[in-house]
Amino acid sequence: MATWSAPGKVFLFGEHAVVFGKPGIAMAVKPRVYVTVRKGRHPPRVKSPYIEGCFSEMDVKGSVYVHSQLPSSSGLGSSAAVTVATLSAINDEFDLGRTRADIADMAFAIEKKVQKGRASPTDTYVSSHGGIVLIKEGTKRRLPPQSFNIVIGNTLVSHSTSRMVEMVGSFKQQEPDIVDPILDSIDAVCMTAIHHLSDPKILGRYMDINHALLEALGVSHPTLTRLVMAARAAGAYGAKLTGAGGGGCMIALCPKRSKTRVAGAIEGCDAKAIITTIDTDGARKEHEGKIARKTGR
Ligand code: PMV
Repeated sequence: MATWSAPGKVFLFGEHAVVFGKPGIAMAVKPRVYVTVRKGRHPPRVKSPYIEGCFSEMDVKGSVYVHSQLPSSSGLGSSAAVTVATLSAINDEFDLGRTRADIADMAFAIEKKVQKGRASPTDTYVSSHGGIVLIKEGTKRRLPPQSFNIVIGNTLVSHSTSRMVEMVGSFKQQEPDIVDPILDSIDAVCMTAIHHLSDPKILGRYMDINHALLEALGVSHPTLTRLVMAARAAGAYGAKLTGAGGGGCMIALCPKRSKTRVAGAIEGCDAKAIITTIDTDGARKEHEGKIARKTGR
C-alpha cells in the first residue's frame, strides 16, 4: 500500500493571458489531495476519468482511496492534484521508477485527454513540484519561495474553465484592438511583479491591477467582485480572482495580523474562506493508512 498527497494551486498573476503565450505566475497552496493505492487483480472501481487514466497509463491494476481537502471545480487545481497524487502512489506501490518530472508530464497528458485538449501544464507542474512557478509558452521556471499569508475565498459558484477560455478567445477575435492591450498589460504586470516577490505590499497592488484587467476581459463575477472588495476593506495588501473566473475562487494577499479578519470578511459574504500559505513540497509520500475515506472521484 502506498499513500501520496499533492497540493492545489492558485494563480498569483497571468491567468487567461498565459493561454495566448504571455507569462503567468502560479503557486502551490496547502490544501491537499491524499491518495492511497494498493496492488490488486482488478481495475479500480472509481467514477473519475482522471484516476482511470492514471491506472491505464501506468498499465497496472489495484484499488484506490482518495481524500481531498480541495473543493472541486473551483479553480484550485483539484483534478491535477488527484492525478499527480494517484500517479505518484502507483509509481511507489508498483516500484516503477518514474521521476517527479515524468509524473508531471504524464499527469498533464492525462488532464489534456480527459479535458479534450483544453488543459495547460500549469496545474500538474505546480502540484507535482510545489513552490512558485513562472510559466511562459510551455516553459516553467521555479521562482524563490515566499512565505505569503494567503486567504482563498471560494464563491461556491461553479464555473467552467473551458467556457471562460473560449469566451476570452472570441472576445479577442472580435475586438483585438481592445483585448490585445489588456493582455499586454497583464504581461507587464506579471513581469514587473517578479521583481517584487519579497515585498507583499507592492505585490498586492499588482494583484489589484491584475484583477481590474481580468474584470475588463469579462471573466469576473459579481460574487468575486464582492469578495475582492471585502478582502481589501478588511486589510488585505491586494486581492484578485484566481483561475478561470466566472465563479470559483479569489485570493487575498494579507499582512499576518489581518488574515483572520480578511477570512471573516469573506465568510460574511456567504463564501468559504481558507487561510493558507505556499506549499513547497509538491507531491510527497505520506504515512501509510492516512486515508480513511473512499470516494468515487
Ligand atoms: O480555473 P483554473 O484553475 O482551471 O485556471 C484556468 C487558467 C486559465 O489561464 C484561464 C487557463 C489555463 O489553462 O491556463
